[in-house]
Amino acid sequence: MRSCGVFRLQQELVQFLEDFASKKSVFKNKKVFQPSYKPATILHRNDLIEQMAKILAPVLKLEKPSNLFVYGKTGTGKTLSVKDVAEGFNKLVISKNIPLKILYINCKLKRISDTEYRLIAQLAREFGKTIPPTGLPTDEVYKLFFNAVDESERAVILVLDEVDQLTKKTGSELLYNLTRINEELSKSFVSLIGISNDLNFVDALDPRVKSSLSEEELLFPPYNAVQIQEILNERAKEGFAKNKIGQGVIEKCSAYAAREHGDARRALELLRVSGELADRSNNQKVTTEHVDEAEEKIDRDRLLDAVSTQPKQAQAALYSIISTSSGKQPIFTGTVYEFYKELCTRTDLRPLTQRRLSDIISELDMLGVITARVISKGRYGRTREIVVPKTLQAANIRRILQDALNL
Ligand SMILES: Nc1ncnc2c1ncn2[C@@H]1O[C@H](COP(=O)(O)OP(=O)(O)O)[C@@H](O)[C@H]1O
Ligand SMILES: [Mg+2]
Repeated sequence: MRSCGVFRLQQELVQFLEDFASKKSVFKNKKVFQPSYKPATILHRNDLIEQMAKILAPVLKLEKPSNLFVYGKTGTGKTLSVKDVAEGFNKLVISKNIPLKILYINCKLKRISDTEYRLIAQLAREFGKTIPPTGLPTDEVYKLFFNAVDESERAVILVLDEVDQLTKKTGSELLYNLTRINEELSKSFVSLIGISNDLNFVDALDPRVKSSLSEEELLFPPYNAVQIQEILNERAKEGFAKNKIGQGVIEKCSAYAAREHGDARRALELLRVSGELADRSNNQKVTTEHVDEAEEKIDRDRLLDAVSTQPKQAQAALYSIISTSSGKQPIFTGTVYEFYKELCTRTDLRPLTQRRLSDIISELDMLGVITARVISKGRYGRTREIVVPKTLQAANIRRILQDALNL
């Protein structure tokens, strides 16, 4: 009987959940793996933290410190270190009653910084002003912000984390205005700390903004595998129960994370996901097999994420590739294009030229979803030889694309 089957499934599920609830986890405190968690110790960044503190020190005597530009690849401890220095200064602010305000803004956050208006309004609000979410002329919002800062004698340090995202969204005008802010202030001053994961960001800036923002620069280099091991060991002590991490696990996470560049975030994510997989598979310990599984899972999730956030045309191109690909044999741009054109009429998408589709195919190659090699066909011109890797979860991706394209 059908209902019996459903009932049995439910019972199994209940059993699973009961087992799960009563089972001991390999974790002691999983919170230590959340991005916002502040570790008890920051390893290998003493010099950089000290340099940063020295650059900012004049602020304690209400002298304006140089603007500072902090840069380095993702997961090199920039946000953590800047926040640590800010915390140190804030302690002095309280104990010595210094009129210093440190503001931290992450420019990646949409609701705060996707327009010039929003960001300046948010800054004014930090100084107690009420600003409507829209409606005022931008100049007016600037004025309200400047007046709010200048209400009393004080120092302000404005940290703009992921500042490269800001110029991507709003252009460099906003940053230019912020670097000129002290011309508008008489009782107070503002020093900027810009943080960027993009190493080329400053060079691409308007030279006036560039020279002002990077009066001082600090480069955060990638960690090496041994340094990452030490960071993971510290965090594992806080996060995992005793004797739950098998031999070689930390080493493997570190080696994987150091392979591209020494990214501590990636390493911590690997260790956390490995722990979760160990819990799910009823193992008492995290093993190196879990690390391999975790590495695959993270890559897979990231790829699925990337596919679902691609523009419609790229999704249509990928769908056409997956649909025309027959396994081992490579396919060619022309075949994909025929399918794509037909797909466009089905989905009300404006068809692009074959040449443009070919560009999109090469972008999909760079994303790592497929491989597309240009081959010459003599006097017939060039085409791309497209291969869908066996490891690609084509069925999953197909489902995501069908949803996205309303098929
Ligand atoms: N030196 C370190 N010691 C301990 N944890 C670190 C260290 N550097 C980075 N981390 C951890 O790695 C993750 C990424 O660090 P973060 O400061 O956000 O990097 P970035 O801002 O450079 O991308 C965070 O979870 C952070 O706590
Ligand atoms: Mg950061």
